[in-house]
Amino acid sequence: MTKFLAPKGVSEYFPPRSELFEIVRDRLISPAKRAGYSLIELPVFEDTALFERGVGESTDVVSKEMYTFEDRGGRSITLRPEGTAGAMRSVIENNLDKGQLPVKIFYSGPFFRAERPQAGRYRQFYQVGIEAIGYGDPEIDAEVIWIADSGFKSLSLSKYELQITSLGDEASRASHRVELINFLKKLPLDEESSRRAKVNPLRLFDDKRPEVIEAMQDAPLLINYLNKDSTDHFEKVKKILSQLGISFTINPKMVRGLDYYTGTTFEFIHPMLGSQSGIGGGGRYDGLMSQLGGSDLSGIGFGIGVDRVLMACEAENSIADLVKAMDLFVVPIDEIAKEFSTKLVKDLRELGFACDLAYGNRGLKGGMKAADKSGATFALVVGDDEIKSNSGNLKNMSTGENISSTLTPSALATFLANFVRDL
Ligand code: HAM
Repeated sequence: MTKFLAPKGVSEYFPPRSELFEIVRDRLISPAKRAGYSLIELPVFEDTALFERGVGESTDVVSKEMYTFEDRGGRSITLRPEGTAGAMRSVIENNLDKGQLPVKIFYSGPFFRAERPQAGRYRQFYQVGIEAIGYGDPEIDAEVIWIADSGFKSLSLSKYELQITSLGDEASRASHRVELINFLKKLPLDEESSRRAKVNPLRLFDDKRPEVIEAMQDAPLLINYLNKDSTDHFEKVKKILSQLGISFTINPKMVRGLDYYTGTTFEFIHPMLGSQSGIGGGGRYDGLMSQLGGSDLSGIGFGIGVDRVLMACEAENSIADLVKAMDLFVVPIDEIAKEFSTKLVKDLRELGFACDLAYGNRGLKGGMKAADKSGATFALVVGDDEIKSNSGNLKNMSTGENISSTLTPSALATFLANFVRDL
């Protein structure tokens, strides 16, 4: 028989690691919810032109990495490589921008980029993202960065770094562009680099080839061309971040991989992840909405790579103790006990406890082995005697201590509630 394997380069999560994935994803979302962001559930495929227009044709993402295909109706469809363009499309299409501003939304799910797979770089990967649309002041920049930072802190991560810069407004970028193009003219660029430079000369800062990095050493930096408005905005963002206790460094050579960025841009880097160290990034995209046919509203957001954040948590060993154990594992030792136990675990589950039981005819020894493997906090053996007396011993699986209890759901619930977190 053919053995089927997952497609090359996808990340998938199955037990027990999937529990850690879930913890990471939920904790990254949690501060966004507390800051008033609401879920937006978007399609995983969109018209190809949306990404070409929104993300930009000079980017690797659009020029090399999109999963594009023709659907049965002959339309060009692309699996979403990122979330911002689709979120904007939906905000415009559904008139969310006509209501209260800023529109604050979050999303999470799979994204697709046909990259060369390696540790931390996948063809299907997962992001948690947020977008705040329709408010241009620096406070919201700081809020967005705080949300990401707060998510990382809630996962007890401590070794990551935040880098920020400003790509300025249109006027600032235009004056820098002239200087940068003049500088690039003097360099012996190959055909591909010249093509990229024509569409977006900033891309050259992102080139990983040593000779290009060397040649770009003395290139004019955009941060030195910010006009007063852009400088004031960036200074204010830095000031608020400091007030919020968020440390950062300025990286004036940061180039994000997507063309829509303006103003404040940022990346979170985790130094223990090797070459795929970007655990999240984002920034302002003030022209994007009008470019996609909507009103001329500003926007800012981030995308965090859940796969990489999980790897960072594992590298720092920061979340292993957050996995919630089953509260109770019941071991029935005969047919009558099975019936009794099935009803008992159902009642306890409905009261909010995590309970499981030994299936099959495992007997006492096999059942206790299963209880041990389950990682449950308590085990309860149910046999004839327990049913007749309506009482039994709850074994604390970490200390070995036995504690007697009545076997009614309410008595057990009262007992377990003393030990269980997150009820
Ligand atoms: P991005 O920097 O392209 O931004 O992606 C955000 C994060 O997704 C990265 O920092 C990284 O952690 C993760 N990521 C990207 N590609 C891969 C991959 N192939 N494998 C694993 N993880 C990956 C965006 O996507 C923007 N939409 C973020 C944004 C939202 N900007 C404004 N709003």
